[in-house]
Amino acid sequence: MTQTLGGKVAHANKREYGTTDVEIDNTTPIFQGFENTNGFLMSHTDFVETVPEGFKNIAKTSSCPNAGMANEEKGLYGIQFHPEVNDSVNGTQVIKNFLYSVCKCSGNWTMHSFVETSIQNLKNKIGDKKVLCALSGGVDSSVAAVLLSKAVGKNLTCIFLDHGLLRKNEGDEVEKVFKNQYDINLVRVNCEDRFLGKLEGVTDPEQKRKIIGEEFIRVFEEEAKKIGKIDYLVQGTIYPDVIESGLGKSAVIKSHHNVGGLPDHVDFEEIIEPLRSLFKDEVRKTGLELGIPENLVYRQPFPGPGLAIRIIGEITKSKLEILKEADAIFREEIANANLHKNINQYFAVLTNLKSVGVMGDERTYDYTIALRAVETTDFMTGKWSKIPYEVLEKVSSRIVNEVAHVNRVVYDITSKPPATIEWE
Ligand code: XMP
Repeated sequence: MTQTLGGKVAHANKREYGTTDVEIDNTTPIFQGFENTNGFLMSHTDFVETVPEGFKNIAKTSSCPNAGMANEEKGLYGIQFHPEVNDSVNGTQVIKNFLYSVCKCSGNWTMHSFVETSIQNLKNKIGDKKVLCALSGGVDSSVAAVLLSKAVGKNLTCIFLDHGLLRKNEGDEVEKVFKNQYDINLVRVNCEDRFLGKLEGVTDPEQKRKIIGEEFIRVFEEEAKKIGKIDYLVQGTIYPDVIESGLGKSAVIKSHHNVGGLPDHVDFEEIIEPLRSLFKDEVRKTGLELGIPENLVYRQPFPGPGLAIRIIGEITKSKLEILKEADAIFREEIANANLHKNINQYFAVLTNLKSVGVMGDERTYDYTIALRAVETTDFMTGKWSKIPYEVLEKVSSRIVNEVAHVNRVVYDITSKPPATIEWE
């Protein structure tokens, strides 16, 4: 704004980074109700040296003379700090002030009205044409599917690929909700053997992802062909996906091969993305509005390649069984301890490590299970969760007692970075 309207942007000698005391002019609409000094996150090297004509200074820090500027008459405001992050205390109030006081928004966009309007729009658009949806059991595709089914009923078919790499009982739970509760046309394809066959002998994580992503699309295409003519394909794209693909900047640390990539050999007229304008918390609210059970709506993120990337080394059916049981115990105890709402992602990993143990009078030589639990908001960084020792103790003792071929449990105390959340 400064550049365009004739002010001057300059390069500072020193980068300003971190939560910084920002002195503000609280008579200006966006800072209404604020104290004179507030902690906001600054992260910049360039700064506004001279504000454009017609603007006044409304904020500064000890090293940034123009941390905020305004032309109140024209309703133009610029701020240098980041109001959207948690480190900016009351940062969202700045955004609220801007929207309600400056832009005069009324805030009447509710999830209820979103659901009603979306269903009506989908009805008008689709009529009695045929819609196909790949259901993963994740929040986004589930909400998209239910929304579509409310609009077009039996003209929607969902294909749910159970590749055998889901968590314990997960396939049955998904089927139960969609078939029984919503009476959706659901085709569940049990293709565990096919996936395990393709993964035989594969140990490289990226290779695993690639195989699973590709095989997923092949099976989906085969099943779609059986259904016949399809007019629309549903995708559970949400707003952060739109931003991410639009900017395309983030470094590829792991190829996030989201199951549900586009099939090459299915003919359809158009892709429908009913959740394209929603953030994750809004998708969850939409799900609740539609009556989807809470445990599904608040399901923790689960990677498309599933348990395949939580078994280090080669994947076998017996290793999968071990991991599913251990993981189920961990999740059960986290829920019993009422920690599930505070920990954003938690799971068990089957390490490829065997070690010596003793059970009764016998020496054992069995697997080590690692437990991973992270607290994060964006999943780009995260802290390992300080689960109380008593809970860890119970999980460990239950796993070694109840799961055959496990004689040791360890807890991962690495944050991200340097580690990633998943082990592969
Ligand atoms: P990392 O391990 O990269 O994980 O710290 C960050 C988040 O991404 C999820 N993740 C994946 N999701 N396909 C997915 O759909 C993948 O291949 C994949 N790898 C990691 C991970 O579970 C965490 O939520």
